[in-house]
Amino acid sequence: MTAQIIDGKAIAQQLLASIKTKINIRIASGKRAPCLAVVLVGADAASAIYVRNKRIACEKVGIKSIAYDLSSSTSEADLFGLIDNLNHDANVDGILVQSPLPPQISEEQLIESISVDKDVDGFHPYNIGRLAVRQPTLRSCTPFGVIKLLQAVNIDLMGLDTVIVGVSNHVGRPMALELLLAGCTVTSCHRHTKNLAEKVNNADLVVAAAGKPGLIKGDWIKEGAIVVDIGISRLSDGSICGDVEFNIAKARASYITPVPGGVGPMTVATLMENTLLALELKEKK
Ligand code: GUN
Repeated sequence: MTAQIIDGKAIAQQLLASIKTKINIRIASGKRAPCLAVVLVGADAASAIYVRNKRIACEKVGIKSIAYDLSSSTSEADLFGLIDNLNHDANVDGILVQSPLPPQISEEQLIESISVDKDVDGFHPYNIGRLAVRQPTLRSCTPFGVIKLLQAVNIDLMGLDTVIVGVSNHVGRPMALELLLAGCTVTSCHRHTKNLAEKVNNADLVVAAAGKPGLIKGDWIKEGAIVVDIGISRLSDGSICGDVEFNIAKARASYITPVPGGVGPMTVATLMENTLLALELKEKK
């Protein structure tokens, strides 16, 4: 079997186009555009690229983005002061603070300082909790993007045996909640998991989110399984790769996402969707 490659770039473009249409309809009816505050603290090169892509996507769909580029020595008090102002600004619908943050700033406290209604990353414990009790509101962008990617190629998730490798707060854990919500049987694997190869080999759907290049061997993949690779690492030769041995896995899987060009563009597109949703929910209140 040779897998169908799921083109995340193309699917994200379609999602962005539909968001743009919805925003154009808003504007034509006299409503304002959504507004996203994008906060970057420090000069991490990868973060700068991610933030740039998010700002470009805003422009593409008609979301107003406000840039806050802060120095790496920004104090917690100054950052929390900015968040407080943005929380109270009626013209700001979403707040995104790119991680990682410099060591003097507590990421947990920062996330909890963002108003749950403006938490377009879907990282706040309230929004994670909403997903856990089957009342999703603002959903974590990457796991939500994975669900949309699989829906776009008409994969029926109901009843699938799924294995997620990685249990981070931002990706692995909300991914497990998304798959549970979609009717899957979910196994979450981590550094203490026994017999990882065997677990992966039993899965109808494998989601790799460990951030460790080549951790998932291609020959672990069951014939006909679906493989979603969220890992993204830069190798010493400058190339980008995921957690799964792509070429070997591709020869066994039914569907597979590439890195780059798989899940990554969907994270940005779902952020745009969440920003529009945050405004729509505010208008309904
Ligand atoms: N750093 C890496 N990915 C993300 C993301 O999706 N959101 C934020 N805020 N920071 C990140």
